[in-house]
Amino acid sequence: MRILVTGGAGFIGSHLVDKLMANVHQMKRMRYISGQSQEWIGHPRFELIRHDVTEPLLVEVDCIYHLACPASPIFYKYNPVKLPFSQTRLQLRQNVIGTLNMLGLAKWVGVRILLTSTSEVYGDPLEHPQKEEYWGNVNPIGVRSCYDEGKRVAETLMFDYHRQHDIEIQIARIFNTYGPRMNIDDGHVVSYFVAQALR
Ligand SMILES: NC(=O)c1ccc[n+]([C@@H]2O[C@H](COP(=O)([O-])OP(=O)(O)OC[C@H]3O[C@@H](n4cnc5c(N)ncnc54)[C@H](O)[C@@H]3O)[C@@H](O)[C@H]2O)c1
Repeated sequence: MRILVTGGAGFIGSHLVDKLMANVHQMKRMRYISGQSQEWIGHPRFELIRHDVTEPLLVEVDCIYHLACPASPIFYKYNPVKLPFSQTRLQLRQNVIGTLNMLGLAKWVGVRILLTSTSEVYGDPLEHPQKEEYWGNVNPIGVRSCYDEGKRVAETLMFDYHRQHDIEIQIARIFNTYGPRMNIDDGHVVSYFVAQALR
C-alpha cells in the first residue's frame, strides 16, 4: 500500500510512521508531510513530501492518515492568527482548508481517510466520561476556540464528504497523549506536569 501520513514528523505521526514502516509486507511506499527530519529518510519505501496541507495535493495513494495540524496549545492560544509553522496561515484555516484538501484527495483517488480529531470537540463537557454521541459544550469565542471549532468543522467536513461522496472515513478523537518525542514545552497537561516535576 502507498500510505500518506500528513503531520508524519510530529509527535504522534512519527510513531504512526514507525508502526507502518515496520509492517514491511504491507507497504511499498510511505509518504508524509512535514518540515522535520526523520530517520526513515533515504529508506527505499519512504518518500518525504514537504507540503503545506492548506495547499491542494495530488498524489497516488491507497490510504490517508490526516494528522497535520498545529497542535500545541502554546502556539495556537497565544498566536491563533499567525502560527510559526506557516506565517500566513490561520489555525482555523489549517484545520478547515487542510482537511478539505485531504478530503479532495481522498475523493479523487477513491481511498479511505482518517482524521485525528480531539477530545477538545467536547469543549468543557457537562458529561463524564464523554461518549461519542455527546455533542459537547464548546465556547465559540474562547482563546482555544480556533483549535476546538477547527476540529469540529473538520469532523463536519468528513461526514459531509462521507454522506455526499460515499468516502470511507474514520475519526479518532484523541485525548491527552504523552510519550517519547513529545515536545516538553508544547503546553499539553501531562508534559507540563512532568516538566514541572523534573524542574
Ligand atoms: N498530542 C495529543 O495529546 C493530541 C490530542 C488530541 C488530538 N491530537 C491531534 O493529533 C494530531 C497530531 O498531534 P501531535 O501531538 O503529534 O502534534 P505535533 O505538533 O507533534 O505534530 C503535528 C505535525 O503537523 C505538521 N503540520 C502542522 N501544520 C501543517 C500544515 N499546514 N501542513 C503540513 N504539515 C503541518 C507539523 O509540522 C507537525 O509535524 C493533530 O491533528 C492533533 O490535533 C493530538
